[in-house]
Amino acid sequence: MDETASRPAPCAGLRIGDLAPDFAARSTLGDVRLSDLRGRWLILFSHPADFTPVCTTEFVALARAAGEFDKRDCALMALSVDSLFSHFAWLRLIRDRFGVEVRFPIVEDPTLVIGRAYGMVSAHDADSATVRTTFFIDPEGVIRAMTCYPANVGRSTPEMLRMLDALQAVDSGQALAPANWQPGDPMLAQPDATLDAVYAADSETGWFLQETGGKGRA
Ligand code: BEZ
Repeated sequence: MDETASRPAPCAGLRIGDLAPDFAARSTLGDVRLSDLRGRWLILFSHPADFTPVCTTEFVALARAAGEFDKRDCALMALSVDSLFSHFAWLRLIRDRFGVEVRFPIVEDPTLVIGRAYGMVSAHDADSATVRTTFFIDPEGVIRAMTCYPANVGRSTPEMLRMLDALQAVDSGQALAPANWQPGDPMLAQPDATLDAVYAADSETGWFLQETGGKGRA
């Protein structure tokens, strides 16, 4: 049997709806505790290593979009196994080369205790590098979405913002975000799952697939 088949996948262990495990750690902005960020949205994301090509592009893109996350009352927090001093040196290089300052915290996780709690790295992995996992955590500390990308494909900042917009729009009403939804687009009504509603609907799909007015951010 392929040895990898029995290995837990990254993100394994935590599920949507779970409370995000709390932790305290050193970061580029001083000591941080996850639970201190309750009351705001939080995107907690891991990256494999400092001073690597794809990660550098992600940090430049996220630092440039920091104002957009702020507008949505969403904090960013990054994490990798690299040391605090490695993070500092990398941020200095990013500032000097790309002209952008990374002002969100990057946590150091040299013992992998956080990475393992979040399934960012498997207990069986020989390599300590985390994959690109991203957790969208709501103001109550609940994991609302998570994504997992391989080391060789960078994340999309517009998609991270879209996910956040969709989660916030969903929370503001009982509506659902359809495929390719963008802020300002119509959303979908929660289906009325009763037989009366099925027979009363004015079309075949009217009882389960119906747009509401645009409920998202315009
Ligand atoms: C990168 O960020 O480019 C990268 C990191 C780890 C492995 C491969 C690529």
